Amino acid sequence: NNAATRRNVAALQRDGIAMIGPNAGEMAEAGEAGIGRMAEPLEIGAAAERLLRPPQPRPLAGKRVLITAGPTHEPIDPVRYIANRSSGKQGFAIAAAAQAAGADVTLVSGPVELDHPPGVRVIPVESARDMLQQVEAALPVDIAIFAAAVADWRVAREGEQKLKKTAAGMPPLQLVENPDILATISHRKDGRPPLVIGFAAETEHLIENARTKLARKGCDWIVANDVSPASGVMGGDRNTVHLLTRRGDNIDVDSWPVMTKEEVANELIAHVARAVGQPS
Ligand code: C5P
Repeated sequence: NNAATRRNVAALQRDGIAMIGPNAGEMAEAGEAGIGRMAEPLEIGAAAERLLRPPQPRPLAGKRVLITAGPTHEPIDPVRYIANRSSGKQGFAIAAAAQAAGADVTLVSGPVELDHPPGVRVIPVESARDMLQQVEAALPVDIAIFAAAVADWRVAREGEQKLKKTAAGMPPLQLVENPDILATISHRKDGRPPLVIGFAAETEHLIENARTKLARKGCDWIVANDVSPASGVMGGDRNTVHLLTRRGDNIDVDSWPVMTKEEVANELIAHVARAVGQPS
């Protein structure tokens, strides 16, 4: 995080040097933790393999892709927040797949413990309002994919000091609704991205709820995924999804087999490339 280190890293990246890591976690020095761990040997191997692979087709070359990922943190007071359970893995995998397909990728991410995908512009944010602001600042784009698990509510008035237990019981928390980033961008008159994709994480009536969401949010496609506790999707590495695409008044539903989050990302980007990309 040191400014000089960041400048040097940026200079190396500008020169086309690939970076592997550093990762977040515990350091060799006892008690120190943060960004600075050596990447795991398997990760270094995988990165070298990727770099040495023959050039892949770049069907999204010249396209700008905006992705949101992770949870948002809505402060209650200086030490507490409201958040959703989200690892950010699916959104990060989509960003990496879009980058590999040649797109210019901006990833607006809530707080997560993930390495930044190489070659992707990552904009870290905390709250839903910050996320909306950064998303709007990143426009215009050709494709916007909203994979973040945005907190629906925030407290009306954030405590300036840590809230205390009182004899009267819990401090009252008044909640107000957060902006819906996907709906806001989908309904924009000016500069609406030509392809807007949302996610519908549901624990029941998956397709039915996803259809309703597609109409209500005003997006073009919805990736519906089952996040019931039995699915193990939250925080896990696999995902079972259905892609709902709007064609005029009709909605097509394409159900995919259970896949890793990377495979879901590659499949989604392949669909995007077929819809808007250049022939490879
Ligand atoms: O309504 P729900 O949260 O289930 O909708 C999920 C979709 O809407 C996701 O694509 C999510 O990223 C997006 N969303 C958003 N802003 C919100 C809430 C959800 O962009 N405040």
